[in-house]
Amino acid sequence: KLKIAIVGAGSSYTPELIEGLSEHRETLPVKEIVLLDINEERLSIMEGFVKRYVGYLNYDVKVWSTTSREEAFTDADFVSTQIRVGGNKARIKDEKIPLKYGLIGQETTGVGGMFNAFRVIPVMIEIAKDVEKYCPDAWIINYSNPTELVTEALNKVCNVKVAGLCAGGMRPRWWAAEALNIPEEKIYYDYLGLNHMNFSYNMTIDGRPITDEEFSKVIKKCTTVSQEWMETLHLIPSQYTQYYFHTKERVQQLKEQDKTRGEAILELEKQIFREYADELNNQKPKTLAKRGGGGYSKVAIGVMDAIYNDSGKWMVINVANNGTVRFLDDDAVIETACYVSKNGMKPLTIAHYPKAVIGLISAVKTYESLAVEAAITGNKKLALEALVAHPLVRDYDVAKPLLEEMLEAHKEYLPQF
Ligand code: G6P
Ligand code: MN
Repeated sequence: KLKIAIVGAGSSYTPELIEGLSEHRETLPVKEIVLLDINEERLSIMEGFVKRYVGYLNYDVKVWSTTSREEAFTDADFVSTQIRVGGNKARIKDEKIPLKYGLIGQETTGVGGMFNAFRVIPVMIEIAKDVEKYCPDAWIINYSNPTELVTEALNKVCNVKVAGLCAGGMRPRWWAAEALNIPEEKIYYDYLGLNHMNFSYNMTIDGRPITDEEFSKVIKKCTTVSQEWMETLHLIPSQYTQYYFHTKERVQQLKEQDKTRGEAILELEKQIFREYADELNNQKPKTLAKRGGGGYSKVAIGVMDAIYNDSGKWMVINVANNGTVRFLDDDAVIETACYVSKNGMKPLTIAHYPKAVIGLISAVKTYESLAVEAAITGNKKLALEALVAHPLVRDYDVAKPLLEEMLEAHKEYLPQF
């Protein structure tokens, strides 16, 4: 039976993970779930809630919490990581400061994503080193953003097994299943790109190609990108490509909004945690549906299940390229469709690349790899190169002062610089 450690368990997403594990109790027999967090207040609220929640679910599993990685990791089979260094307060700075320079701050795709990586990567490396030490055979199931950059950094510095996850890769499947009323297992597609910068195409349904009419129905689910543009491209993009395809409009909207996403979440979380703390409450708060991370537990548990049961599932995951995408480096981590079994993730071959998006993907990957290197080494020159290489920035005169201001704003979380 399995032991699962959840790092950053004080996250409001933890109960969804518990719910998913409970739903899979027949195929994924878990004996023990350990909750770990540095925020002891949130940790104790979450431990209390999860204990009531497993009772409500009739789920027979031992739940306990600790602030010690050694205790949490010893004998663990899976270590799920969902940390946010500096919390949503730091996210708000990521969102607001770039906007003063006319740039999108957004916590992954935007300029904020680079500083998010700078804060999270050193801590994730420490965590992974402890995984190496206390449970070297365990899989790290990572959801900490920016997930692909985190995965690339761990691959570079540590000797651990890591799956970088995001629900976004499975979304075209879920969209098609809903839009066309077809079971999701019948839907496959080619998947090219990176986390939050990717394109799905050549979709098949029950082995036959999707019709144009069906395609039009599926893309209606992608609400952030122009329908007309998706028809033209004939690709299903990540929702996050909106920041590239509609940059000016998004900058304008972000300037006009009265609260950033991070600010909205600080408020949402107050409500969510009041409900978690309520000792009479043993069910998931409704407000949780307003967070964007839904679907993660489905993907995380899908991966654990496929590894544990050697079931050979098709899933989109962040893994080392190793020749999968010929125009990117081998050690670059990409988000790609994989065959998942007890041996881990094996990327599937991609037959052709839509030319219209190759440039964008290459440019974003270049920025990302520079940012990963800068996050690991604390080299400021590399950080500047990364920022100027970022296709949403590109302008040296803007990047130079922006970098200084961001490094200063986040300095308590950037020991490497
Ligand atoms: C999506 C993305 C995640 C991201 C989340 C944000 O699920 O794929 O990478 O963390 O949205 O949700 P939030 O509620 O924090 O804005
Ligand atoms: Mn994501």
